[in-house]
Amino acid sequence: MNTANDFPRGEVAVTHAPSATEAAVETALARLDLDTKARLLAGQDRWSLPPVPEIGLRSLVMSDGPIGVRGVRWSADSPSIALPSPTALAATWDPGLAHRAGVLLAQEARRKGVHVLLAPTVNLHRSPLGGRHFECYSEDPYLTGAIGSGYVNGVQSGGVGTTVKHFVANDAETDRFTVDNLISARALRELYLAPFEAIVENAHPWGIMTAYNSVNGTTMSEHHYLVNEVLRGEWGFDGFNVSDWTAARSTVDAINGGLDVAMPGPRTVYGEALSQAVRDGTIAEATVDEAVRNVLRLAVRVGALEGAEPAVTELPETVDGVELAREIARRSFVLVKNDDTLPVKPGGTVALIGAAARDARVLGGGSATVFPDRTVAPLDGLTEALPEGTLSYAVGADPNTELTTADKGFTLRAVCRDAAGTVLATTGIPNGQIHWSFADLPDGVSFDTLHTVELTGTFTPRNTGPHTFGIKGKGAFSLSVDGYTHYDGVQAPDEDDPFEGFFAAPAPRAQVELTAQEPVEVSLTHLIALGDYLREDITISLAHQEPQRDPDALIAEAVAAARAADTAVVVVATTDRVESEGFDRADLRLPGRQDDLVRAVAAVNPHTVVVVNSGSPVDLPWRDEVAAVLLSWFPGQEGGAALADVLTGTHEPGGRLPTTWGSLADAPVTQVAPENGELPYSEGVFIGYRAWGKAARVPSYPFGHGLGYTDWTYKSVEMYRNVAKVRVHNSGSRPGREVVQVYLSPAERENDRPVRWLAGFAAVEAGPGETAEAVIEIPRRAFEVWDETAGSWTFIKGSYNIQVGRSVADRRINVAIDV
Ligand code: BGC
Repeated sequence: MNTANDFPRGEVAVTHAPSATEAAVETALARLDLDTKARLLAGQDRWSLPPVPEIGLRSLVMSDGPIGVRGVRWSADSPSIALPSPTALAATWDPGLAHRAGVLLAQEARRKGVHVLLAPTVNLHRSPLGGRHFECYSEDPYLTGAIGSGYVNGVQSGGVGTTVKHFVANDAETDRFTVDNLISARALRELYLAPFEAIVENAHPWGIMTAYNSVNGTTMSEHHYLVNEVLRGEWGFDGFNVSDWTAARSTVDAINGGLDVAMPGPRTVYGEALSQAVRDGTIAEATVDEAVRNVLRLAVRVGALEGAEPAVTELPETVDGVELAREIARRSFVLVKNDDTLPVKPGGTVALIGAAARDARVLGGGSATVFPDRTVAPLDGLTEALPEGTLSYAVGADPNTELTTADKGFTLRAVCRDAAGTVLATTGIPNGQIHWSFADLPDGVSFDTLHTVELTGTFTPRNTGPHTFGIKGKGAFSLSVDGYTHYDGVQAPDEDDPFEGFFAAPAPRAQVELTAQEPVEVSLTHLIALGDYLREDITISLAHQEPQRDPDALIAEAVAAARAADTAVVVVATTDRVESEGFDRADLRLPGRQDDLVRAVAAVNPHTVVVVNSGSPVDLPWRDEVAAVLLSWFPGQEGGAALADVLTGTHEPGGRLPTTWGSLADAPVTQVAPENGELPYSEGVFIGYRAWGKAARVPSYPFGHGLGYTDWTYKSVEMYRNVAKVRVHNSGSRPGREVVQVYLSPAERENDRPVRWLAGFAAVEAGPGETAEAVIEIPRRAFEVWDETAGSWTFIKGSYNIQVGRSVADRRINVAIDV
């Protein structure tokens, strides 16, 4: 018999900073005049706050996040380790591994002079259509909070700050700057706020980023109730609050709404406007002081205030980023189906198929982009791992149905010139994209002198045929290929979206017949706009598309390769025109003819393995026709090496689904587009598996599901106060790791609660024939609901089943408790 008292409540700490920190903050604050204080709350450029040398305060530098640390330049001059996508990290169900990822990221940040990582992203997978789904962890708030806490603790143990983002409910991208998400207090508390609350409690983040969107009528950069009352008041958050980029819109409402820092600069609603508002009497100086305290506390913590002791004085041991990227990738891969085909039999032949097998999509698009110095594609990884002569390759189908940023085969540099045509600087760039603002401009270049940027270099085609070249961005451009000017004109600016040049589709501007392996000169010149739109933010791209071969012939080639091999491995993928920040998906279909390709290959090879290279769910209409399906997410720079590890069986795939995979037709929550500016979260607390359960629909693969290479028998579960002890037996023939999941299911379905929900999990490892014990603490919160009338949590007493198993659908053992 358990009682409610067996599930103790955690204590809310008011501040986590030692008193020496607070003393240093007060001393520094007392030495600042109003103008300096106001200036300190506004970006001096895209990524940093101004230094205040008089008080020994260095410039605080921020950078995205979450899978690596890009640094202040959008360039590959200083490459970054690229870890797997956040969905992948969550699929490991391993807060310890997330912690190690954080330690690596702190190491990367310090290497690049970055004090604050703009991560983690802990919005929820409300709908599979959400464009940044790949950048968030899960549909479940508990799993999201656990992974996020590990990550934040890891980063901060390396002396680097985090900004848990986007507070709150930035769960989709459509009209993200203006959408008003209408969410009940209960859904907010039980779902969307829950990961933030857990991370504040368990990891004490030094920062938070408020979202672009509104919640219940108020934009999040001005949300006094959620920021000042809930986040700071109820939860005791004592870090700094930074706006999402360009989201601070009003001086008075933002500062009164608890926004400390407006980014990016230099033109923001803070700075001069803020000091003026204090002088006018519309803002109390004490309010500004509170915000400055939060920034100074951050500065102390990260060691940017001279004379004050930082939060971390002893750094963790150095991490091998390449090794860690590979380990996380293989631990994240989710084997959702395996009809005795994986691992591939030693010595057998493998036909590797798919455009993404050669040009892997290792990361998701948008602000999460980093530039690694190498990427290992599946073709590279398998070539390395398999005996010579046993691997063949065929493209099969190209998911890129439109132009993409010029990359493979291009060697490009950017030449910056002044109005007289004098070269100011020349700099290498990672691919066909330039994304520069103040801090990113090459040395020796300023917006006062810069007149044109020329993206120039060579392109060596892989294939003979008509190559298409295009341009993304606004303003005047001239494009030439092989010495001939194909376009000289102006692409119209779109006034509405400041990120148009980043997320819009490229316009095709030239088609040129080229010969494989014969390099040609390419040049794209952009005249820096003299108008006033985003003059200080240059975002342009040279785009390219390979000659389009007859899709049926490509599939036929792949089929021939598959027929001749023992195993066919088809890598299917989304593209950055399908999954990215900046827009939502219209459907979950794989682009191009990839579904046809899989079906055709499966028809000739009974050992067809499909590797799904996408950050979030896609429809798998052929899943019953293939032998195995392995989800590889966006696997980071070492993805191909990790794939070889699990396909050959040197390691088992370790992932479990952090989100339900089902077809769009069956998905219970799909609306992401607001109507009249409003997006009602009318499903309440029923998202993800909670919603699938309520609708009594069966998804393709349930939350928590994932196979390894051994078998497990669940032997017993016993409850000791709030701890479940679960014994599992490795009944297969290989060592393995099992993620033991505990779901709580109320006997009575009163209070409009889901059928069951995740209440805890733990992983165990055991050799064949061994038994292991998982010890899982069940938090009090698992039994609580948010009482909207009382405005507080209520512990719901009664009978519950503690259901333990391998996924929300595969529950193996059970114990009933009364609380
Ligand atoms: C994104 C943030 C990101 C910021 C800076 C915004 O558009 O929403 O997640 O940190 O840009 O790149």
